[in-house]
Parts: sequence; structure tokens; C-alpha cells
Amino acid sequence: MRIITDIAEMQAAADEARLTGKRVGVVPTMGYLHEGHLNLLRTAREHARFVVLTAFVNPAQFAPNEDFEKYPRDFERDRALAEKAGTDVIFFPSREEMYPNGCETFVEVSHLSQVLEGEFRPTHFRGVTTIVAKLFNCTKPHVALFGQKDAQQAAMIRRMVKDLNFDIEIIVGPIVREADGLAMSSRNVYLSPGERKDALVLSQALHLAKDLISRGEKDTSAIRSAMFLLIAGKPTAAIDYVACVNPETFQTVKALHSGEPVLFLLAVRIGKTRLIDNEIIEVG
Ligand code: PAJ
Repeated sequence: MRIITDIAEMQAAADEARLTGKRVGVVPTMGYLHEGHLNLLRTAREHARFVVLTAFVNPAQFAPNEDFEKYPRDFERDRALAEKAGTDVIFFPSREEMYPNGCETFVEVSHLSQVLEGEFRPTHFRGVTTIVAKLFNCTKPHVALFGQKDAQQAAMIRRMVKDLNFDIEIIVGPIVREADGLAMSSRNVYLSPGERKDALVLSQALHLAKDLISRGEKDTSAIRSAMFLLIAGKPTAAIDYVACVNPETFQTVKALHSGEPVLFLLAVRIGKTRLIDNEIIEVG
């Protein structure tokens, strides 16, 4: 496994793989790998002969009051885990390599970047789509893998790829959870033991939604109210949003219809840690 920190060297490695007929797959991450990332790497291996992991904590997607400085980092650990998962290259550029002169040019998916997560993190998604476009130009993939954990991010990247005609296949992997249901996240390390217990309320709220729907509830505001009440019962929890949308358009869904899947999404602050979770629910 090679570690590459230089953009020109990364592009040359991708060119060489392409010239020798290998499909190039990329898994963009901010490092501090967990099973959610590793599962994407293993899936990448099924679709590509040359698998690149990018590990870059992207300053452009953090607002000044957010956790850029304290975001967890452990490159040696990432290196060992990535190698075991069958990675060919880790692209690990410095901030200066990626943004030598700051950033004047942004890629922004206008509507999708402003709703839900975008309301609470107004500059976040343009930072994400900009770095992902840059990483695509650095790693030249045929296929790129993202996680359903960040459902809105994945939808936005699909839209960016379509709108800007990137010749890249996008694959979205399922949410990987801890045994008790908490969606894996690099930020889970911020949780104290008490908060870790309260954090379970996100997946429990999604479970409750599924349960109410299976018992015939069709009114999404009734379902969202029940989810709110459950979450509000946890002393450390503060809700940013609980939403029910069309999984493709992200338009709000008010009434459920049989055969039309919906996406429930939520963002909850547990103490100082902001967690998100979601689930696509089939309506019977
Ligand atoms: P990061 O949070 O490190 O996540 C990297 C990828 O792993 C994303 O596609 C994310 O959706 C996926 N992922 C994270 N937790 C997951 C889980 N529990 N199950 C399945 N997939 C999971 O998302 C980012 O980094 C950044 O915004 C990035 C796209 C790299 C741009 O900087």
C-alpha cells in the first residue's frame, strides 16, 4: 500500500492504473476510520482493481464555531486498518497541498445544500461538494463510494455528478451501526458514557417511526411528534430537526402512501456532540 501526499503523484498513479486497464475506485473520508468506512473500502474492492482511500479533514466544510481543530485524527491507526481492508493507496494531502491559495472556486448544489443539514450548517455542503470535486480530479476514479449515513451528502454528490457530467459511478453503502443501534461515526468518541447511552435515542426514534408506520399511521406529523417526545425524554438531547422527505428529491412528505418509500432524517445534539441518523422506510 502506498501513501501519497502530493496531488501530481496521485494523478500519475491513477493514470498508470487506468492505462493498465484497472478500474479505479475511491472512498473519500476524513480519516479516523471505523467499520462504516471499512465496509465502503471492501465494497470498493468488489468494483475496482485499484482502490484509493482519501483521508483529509477538510477545513472548508467546518464553520468557525465547529470542531475542525479537535476532529479526531490518527493516521497510523488508519494506515493499518486501510491496509487490512485491501487499499492500494491512501491519498493523505496536507491542507496546503489541497488549498495552497485558499479557495476562490466553489461547487454548490443550490437547493439541496440549503435544506435540513444546510439550514443548521449553511456553508457545510459547499465545502463538501467542492472538496469531493477536487478529490475526484486528484484520484480520477471510475467509481466512488459514499455512505447512506450522510444521506443528504450522498444525494448531493449524485446530483453534482449528474449536473457537472463527471464520468463517475456513485455507489452508496448502507449505514453501519454499533451492536446496540448507534450509527458509527468518528464523532462518537466525543460522547461521555452517559451521553453514549442517550445517543441511542436517535436509532430508537427511527425504530419508533417504523413501528408506527407498520401499524398503519399515515400522518407524518403524528410520527414526527412521537419521535420528538421520545428524544425530548433524554436529558442531554436537543433536537435540530426530525424530518420526513422523499428519498430522491428531499421534498417534505406529509402523508404516507402505500408503496412509496420515505426517508426519515434527524439531527440531535447530545451534550456538545451533534449526531445525525436516518432510515429509508417502506410504506406497506
Ligand atoms: P467521513 O465522515 O469521514 O465519512 C466518509 C464516508 O463514510 C462518507 O461517505 C460517510 O457517509 C461514510 N460513513 C460514515 N459513517 C458511516 C456509517 N456508520 N455507515 C456507513 N457509511 C458511513 O463524509 C465525510 O467524511 C466528508 O464529508 C467527505 C465526503 C470525505 C468530504 O470531506
